[in-house]
Amino acid sequence: MTKDAGVSDDARSKTWTVLALLRWTTGHFNDHGIPTPRLDAEVLLAHVLGVRRLDLYLKFEQPVMSAERAQYRELISRRVSERVPVSILVGEKEFWSRSFRVTSDVLTPRPDTETLVEAALDRMVDSDRPYRVLEIGTGSGAIALSLALERPSAQITATDVSPEALQIAHENAEELQVGDSVVFLEGSLFEPVSEPLFDLIVSNPPYVAEKDSAKLPAELKHEPAVALFGGMDGYRVLKPLAAEVAARLSPGGWVLLEMDPAQVETVAQWLADSGLSEVETLRDLAGRERVVVARRPDPLAVQQEEEPNALESQSANRGDSQEDVP
Ligand SMILES: C[S@@+](CC[C@H](N)C(=O)[O-])C[C@H]1O[C@@H](n2cnc3c(N)ncnc32)[C@H](O)[C@@H]1O
Repeated sequence: MTKDAGVSDDARSKTWTVLALLRWTTGHFNDHGIPTPRLDAEVLLAHVLGVRRLDLYLKFEQPVMSAERAQYRELISRRVSERVPVSILVGEKEFWSRSFRVTSDVLTPRPDTETLVEAALDRMVDSDRPYRVLEIGTGSGAIALSLALERPSAQITATDVSPEALQIAHENAEELQVGDSVVFLEGSLFEPVSEPLFDLIVSNPPYVAEKDSAKLPAELKHEPAVALFGGMDGYRVLKPLAAEVAARLSPGGWVLLEMDPAQVETVAQWLADSGLSEVETLRDLAGRERVVVARRPDPLAVQQEEEPNALESQSANRGDSQEDVP
C-alpha cells in the first residue's frame, strides 16, 4: 500500500495474506464510495496474482509478496482517486461467458446487453443457416463475436465509427478465434455497408442524453464519449437507425435495439410507424425495459398462413390421400 492508498508503515511491514488484503481493500473501497467494494477488490487481486477470481478462495492464507502488493496498491489507488473502472484496470471484461479485451477506447460490455444477444440467438434457431447479420456500433465486438461463436454459419458484418474501437474488436476476434465469419467496417450507421438486406440487425448505440451527463457516475469519463452519448436528447443515433432499418431488413428479418428504458416507447412507435410488425420490448436482468424488437413482415409467410390448405387442396386434386403415405 502506498501512502496515497492510506496505509501506514506498520501495516506495510506486516505479513499480508490474500484474505487480509481483501478485507483491507474492501473497507478502503467502501470508505470511498466504490459501489461493489469486495468484488472490485477480488477482481484486482486475482489479476495481480494471475489467477481466476474464485481461486482466491483457495488461497486465503497465502502471503502476498511485496512486488505484487505494490502492483495491487497502484490499481487500488487508480480505482479510488481516478475512478478508473475495474475492467479498464485489468484490461478485460467477461461477456456471454467469454473474456473480451477492453481499454478506454471502447465501451466495456455490460451484462444488460446479454439480453440483446439472447434475443438475437432466439431468432437464429437454425444453427446451420447462413443468417446475414449486421451489428451497428460494435465497440469491443462483444455482440457480433458472441453471435459468431454461437452460430458459426452466420455471416456477420459489424460496423463502428471509431477506428480505435475496431482495432480492439479485431484483436478480440483473433483472440477468440472467430475466423472470417465477422467482417468489420468503419463508418456511420449503414453508410459503409454495401450488402442490401439482412436477416437480423442489432445495435446497442450510444443513447445517453448529454443533458443528463452531470448525473452520471465518475467511472463513465473513462469510456469514449462517442460510445455513450446520443446527442442532447439521446436519440442522435437511434433516430436515423430506426428510420432506415426497415429498408435494410429482408422479409421476415428482425431488428433488435438496446436503449435506455425511458426511450423504449418512442423507439417502438418509430419502428411500428416505419411498417415493421411484431414490435415488442424485452427486459434486462434488472427487470427494466431495455431492448426493442421488431420484424419486417414477410408477404409470402402471410400468404401461406392465409391459405393453409393450399398444399392439401393440391394433393387432393392429384388424388393423393393419407393411405398413400408409406
Ligand atoms: C454503446 S457502444 C456499444 C458497444 C458494443 N456494441 C457493446 O454493446 O458493448 C456504441 C458504439 O457505437 C459506436 N458509434 C457511435 N456512433 C456511431 C454511428 N453513427 N455509427 C456506427 N457506430 C457508432 C461507438 O463508437 C461505440 O463503439
